[in-house]
Amino acid sequence: MMAPFTVAIDGPAAAGKGTISRAVAAHFGLAHLDTGLLYRAVGARMLLGEDPIAAAQSLVARDLENPDLRTADVAQAASKVAVIPEVRAALLDFQRAFARRSGGAVLDGRDIGTVICPQAEVKLFVTASAEVRARRRLAELAERGFETDFDTVLADVKTRDDRDMNRADAPLKPAEDAETIDTSELDVDAAIAAAISIVGARKAD
Ligand code: CDP
Repeated sequence: MMAPFTVAIDGPAAAGKGTISRAVAAHFGLAHLDTGLLYRAVGARMLLGEDPIAAAQSLVARDLENPDLRTADVAQAASKVAVIPEVRAALLDFQRAFARRSGGAVLDGRDIGTVICPQAEVKLFVTASAEVRARRRLAELAERGFETDFDTVLADVKTRDDRDMNRADAPLKPAEDAETIDTSELDVDAAIAAAISIVGARKAD
């Protein structure tokens, strides 16, 4: 069995974690888990009237295939359920097991390097200015056919960052040993190249 090799990628809303994580996973042949999807799936079930703790405790793979998980409403609901310690606790074991699976894994989220896998071999904190992130999220939503405007997306991103950074349980913050990649002035290729270079250096150690 190969030794575990975990890449933890954390950062605020719409910073480009997903794109970078998928590219790093593909480049190094690692499995990838978008942990935000777990919280989005719980949020989506809460919007349908379910108790979020019960939803988190009974989450199944099919919940992650819901096509509405990427909407702005579900994003806000996700950050609301993410404040609840029992919701986070219910999702912990699955994420930890995924992080340490043989063959290695990339996980992206808010607390991967701080709480889920503090022993991760590589920790990245991917960030960008709120305006840049809102512009990117607006383009992404438009591509998916969701009509909205810049000011609404910017306000959504800021509300969510505020909730994520100020919660008591597993707040969003860089791990002490994380390397920060600020993508405000990097295009996608440059951001991916920066991440691959950091991961490649650690993998060779
Ligand atoms: O894609 P985006 O960065 O907009 O959000 P996401 O990664 O899908 O996460 C949605 C929400 O889930 C976040 O705003 C957090 O409140 C929560 N989340 C979390 O608390 N911990 C994680 N590891 C991942 C997401």
